[in-house]
Amino acid sequence: MKNETFDLQEKLQALLKAQRDISPQGKVANYIPALAEINPNLMGVSVATIDGKVFGAGDDKVPFSIQSISKVFGLVMAMNRVGDKLWERVNMEPSGQPFNSIIQLEWEKGIPRNPVINAGALLIADVLTSHFSSSKLAFLSFMRTLSDDKNVYIDKHIYQSELSHGNRNAALAYLMKSFNNIQADVPEVLSHYFTQCSVSMSCQQLAQSLLFLANKGVDPRNNKVICSAKDAHRVNAILSTSGMYDQSGEFAFSVGLPAKSGVGGGLIAIVPNHGVICTWSPRLNRFGNSVVGVNLVAAIAEELGVSIYH
Ligand code: DON
Repeated sequence: MKNETFDLQEKLQALLKAQRDISPQGKVANYIPALAEINPNLMGVSVATIDGKVFGAGDDKVPFSIQSISKVFGLVMAMNRVGDKLWERVNMEPSGQPFNSIIQLEWEKGIPRNPVINAGALLIADVLTSHFSSSKLAFLSFMRTLSDDKNVYIDKHIYQSELSHGNRNAALAYLMKSFNNIQADVPEVLSHYFTQCSVSMSCQQLAQSLLFLANKGVDPRNNKVICSAKDAHRVNAILSTSGMYDQSGEFAFSVGLPAKSGVGGGLIAIVPNHGVICTWSPRLNRFGNSVVGVNLVAAIAEELGVSIYH
């Protein structure tokens, strides 16, 4: 990073204040009704570094619904379990479509474009459901291990809300099943997927939990191998090309970091060999990415002078 000694803590506070001072833009997701109950003005940011520092500002310790950020963790679990066979069932190309689009899936015979759109994450949910005796517990336990916090929890209210408004995800899963690309029963796959989306975590917890992706697969806090260096590279590549959905090109163009958003308003960005940035602000742009999150990650990356394309 540009200047090791400058005060990142103060800088984060100033950057967050600058976002608070501009009039709010974007809309809180309401297609999952429980997500719309959140206070839209909450805003947090955390930066964790591989040398053990954690900086934060605003609501950085308040848990929120991680939603699609869970797709990163599910992908790592599935890669660890089934290895390269995974890539026979899911592709690694950007979709250029909204995260919950179904159109491409029919043309492409039930093979999702990538593991971080909804179709791809449902495919991953099928892999996990089929390879763990209790995939939901395995997922929660993975999150608790990575965050080093046994209080990380599944928000049952969000889960129920998703379950009763999940028709589009059900359609994606049944379409893949019709192409024989889903093995387990669809309700079981959906239940796993909604469970992982309903995990609640704070910016501080998420930033620290993802440090292994900034450190070639090894958690720098305890030297535990979370995934291979090759798989960490692959996840970062997918996040760079697809993690911000059909805003991924613009995000690469203007920021240049592997990133993943969630409709709960969270956003994570990996700074390889340095650390992880996590922001949270529930108002979303038309791509389903947090408006403030995109602004803040861009400002922090510029401040630190980091981009994978430098
Ligand atoms: O399946 C859904 O639509 C949500 N549980 C997750 C979508 C999501 O977070 C997309 N990210 N921006």
